[in-house]
Amino acid sequence: MPTSLDSAGSGGAGPASGGTRLRTRGLTAGYGDIRVIHDVDVEVTSGTMSVVVGPNGAGKSTLLKGILGLTRVFEGQVELNGQSVTGKPLEQLAKAGIAYVPQVDDVFDTLRVRENLEMGGFLLDKATRQERIDEVLEVFPDLRRKTRRFVGSMSGGERKMTAFGRALMLAPKVMVLDEPTAGLSPALTQVVLAEQARVLADRGKAVLVVEQKAKAALELADWAYVMVQGRVAMSASGREVLDHPDMAEVFLGGGAVAPGRATG
Ligand SMILES: Nc1ncnc2c1ncn2[C@@H]1O[C@H](COP(=O)(O)OP(=O)(O)OP(=O)(O)O)[C@@H](O)[C@H]1O
Ligand SMILES: [Mg+2]
Repeated sequence: MPTSLDSAGSGGAGPASGGTRLRTRGLTAGYGDIRVIHDVDVEVTSGTMSVVVGPNGAGKSTLLKGILGLTRVFEGQVELNGQSVTGKPLEQLAKAGIAYVPQVDDVFDTLRVRENLEMGGFLLDKATRQERIDEVLEVFPDLRRKTRRFVGSMSGGERKMTAFGRALMLAPKVMVLDEPTAGLSPALTQVVLAEQARVLADRGKAVLVVEQKAKAALELADWAYVMVQGRVAMSASGREVLDHPDMAEVFLGGGAVAPGRATG
């Protein structure tokens, strides 16, 4: 079992387990003068997967951009283990242990799998880079036979695995995944969420996923946030959200969850 990829128990003033906690507190963010998300509190801790679901235009991507210093934050904070990282650029967040896997352009199509992993670790010395590659191949054994494949020739699921592997090269504690299943078939969606994203959480990472494919994501999530019109309308276990009678309407009609039933 590799140690450097396992962030659980790696110290820091995090949650009860002694791991890592990323949270937003009252985050209000948007573009120019326009506030798109309002007073958003979300959280993810080591060894768990939190998902943010909600209809088109709800503000899910804006939330991620707010967390990653990619858009304007009007109010509130982003905290890593109690320390503010609000508005910090991606490079600094990466050094602090937060990896971001964007929805698109997350791999180099014209490079082989191994070269993609090397790119993810280009800041490392050669020996550490090789160690991390070995660790990635242990987390995703399916990649082992494919290290010489050109990523452009691979399936959407294999490409996402390569993208996650590339992000793993810097041994992050938190992984922020923006719609990892966008454009994938239902079968590959299940593979990416269950056999990749969930595996990262089970390996001790704190995994925060924004997903449009709500049902598949909620089934695997430890905790879920439903965003509607820029606000968190419901925060509960994935199962509770799935079983909530208003969910169909939220996703089909963009309506809000009845306030009395939203749990905290
Ligand atoms: N660059 C931008 N400038 C101005 N407004 C934007 C920008 N990007 C998004 N918005 C607006 O912010 C709102 C929320 O968009 P956002 O992309 O965060 O939603 P989303 O929940 O990610 O939607 P989807 O499920 O379609 O990806 C929308 O009204 C959108 O028009
Ligand atoms: Mg989006």
